[in-house]
Amino acid sequence: MAAAAPSFCPNRTISLSTPSHNHNQLTSLHSLRRFSVSSSSISSRCRLLFDSNNRILTPTVKASAAATPVMDQPTSSSSSAVPTTVDVDLGDRSYPIYIGSGLLNQPDLLQRHVHGKQVLVVTNSTVAPLYLDKTIWALTDKNPNIKVESVILPDGEQFKNMETLMKVFDKAIESRMDRRCTFVALGGGVIGDMCGYAAASYLRGVNFIQIPTTVMAQVDSSVGGKTGINHPLGKNMIGAFYQPQCVLIDTDTLNTLPDRELASGLAEVIKYGLIRDAKFFEWQEKNMHALLARDPNAFAYAIKRSCENKAEVVSLDEKESGLRATLNLGHTFGHAIETSSGYGHWFHGEAVAAGTVMAVDMSYRLGWIDDSLVKRVDMILQQAKLPTTPPEAMTVEMFKSVMAVDKKVADGLLRLILLKGPLGNCVFTGDYDRKALDDTLHAFCKS
Ligand SMILES: NC(=O)c1ccc[n+]([C@@H]2O[C@H](COP(=O)([O-])OP(=O)(O)OC[C@H]3O[C@@H](n4cnc5c(N)ncnc54)[C@H](O)[C@@H]3O)[C@@H](O)[C@H]2O)c1
Ligand SMILES: [Zn+2]
Repeated sequence: MAAAAPSFCPNRTISLSTPSHNHNQLTSLHSLRRFSVSSSSISSRCRLLFDSNNRILTPTVKASAAATPVMDQPTSSSSSAVPTTVDVDLGDRSYPIYIGSGLLNQPDLLQRHVHGKQVLVVTNSTVAPLYLDKTIWALTDKNPNIKVESVILPDGEQFKNMETLMKVFDKAIESRMDRRCTFVALGGGVIGDMCGYAAASYLRGVNFIQIPTTVMAQVDSSVGGKTGINHPLGKNMIGAFYQPQCVLIDTDTLNTLPDRELASGLAEVIKYGLIRDAKFFEWQEKNMHALLARDPNAFAYAIKRSCENKAEVVSLDEKESGLRATLNLGHTFGHAIETSSGYGHWFHGEAVAAGTVMAVDMSYRLGWIDDSLVKRVDMILQQAKLPTTPPEAMTVEMFKSVMAVDKKVADGLLRLILLKGPLGNCVFTGDYDRKALDDTLHAFCKS
């Protein structure tokens, strides 16, 4: 069977339909996987690969976030003084992600990305007592000319809003931060999103460094430049794409992270396996106990592989024309849970976990995946001690009203990320039977 040539669709907003296809022209996934694209050649315009069913494919990318073969066992120790580096390849906005143990003890890593003489560290009341002094030391060691200010925000998703954001601007203006200053986000995803958005808009954009300290932030939110705040009617509704100068992941910071927060971050790790990296998912199935036991080697590997996956996707589709949306598996249902139950009650990863189960259920109802995959998803989320059903108080109407303002609604059509085909394949589509969505909502809600 001759393989059809993959088509490139620059700047196309994807509403994936499933046209009736000629089986003779069905493109072999295997042959497409061998097709390679240099991400540097496509960094400024999104180009996506489709098979003959108009499904987004994951090409083999020669990105600088080199896709290392996934092994059954992690390869390197996290305690090495030399950080592992994963590059996010975005042309003149490219940047390194440094991953390793003890990186906050290496001032040069941070200092080489600070321009100008003023730094504003944005953190919160939980993280500040743990890591603020160390961060200030890393910024100022043998660097007496640098002036570091800090702003300590209240802790919690419920504070990811305009009022709290203003505290960052207040501090920056009071301290007379100029255009060459650098904002440093020290904390989890909430701090990263808020500090990034502040950096994107202060004086129309200043330097920005991410020092993520939760699993969620180290495997996902600190990479890729999505920044923003919540609105009472919807999560992350106000924001900007704004890339940092670097991401510094000191894996030692996870030592102080509570178990529930650690599990929450694992929901995003599992997501990468489901949408695009079957081997990584299989590795997770074998190593979940090691992750929960905080095995440093297992964590170093999970963080690196997650960052590589995210870096590849972001390099191909920085502004979310299509491919990047697949990183939101489970998030449309999950955001509805977070928004309806009051920000902060359900952790982001917990809501994503329950949302992933719902997306997988819907994929199965559509006949797009087989039931063994449904069981594996349920099993791994339970192993990770994550919820697999939404809160009991959620109703079908609550889901529908929040989902109606989701950012993935286009022309009134709600597009969803659903699994389709073998493990590691997904679609971003508005072309599905509405009954399947209704059936899923009714299956998971009492009313
Ligand atoms: N921008 C993106 O691409 C993206 C991706 C995923 C998630 N997010 C956002 O990230 C947020 C969730 O991030 P999160 O799960 O990190 O939540 P979070 O930032 O609220 O952090 C979780 C908790 O852990 C505490 N904490 C942080 N580091 C710690 C440490 N090392 N030791 C002890 N405690 C520590 C925090 O103070 C907080 O109480 C959500 O707002 C979500 O929308 C954004
Ligand atoms: Zn998420």
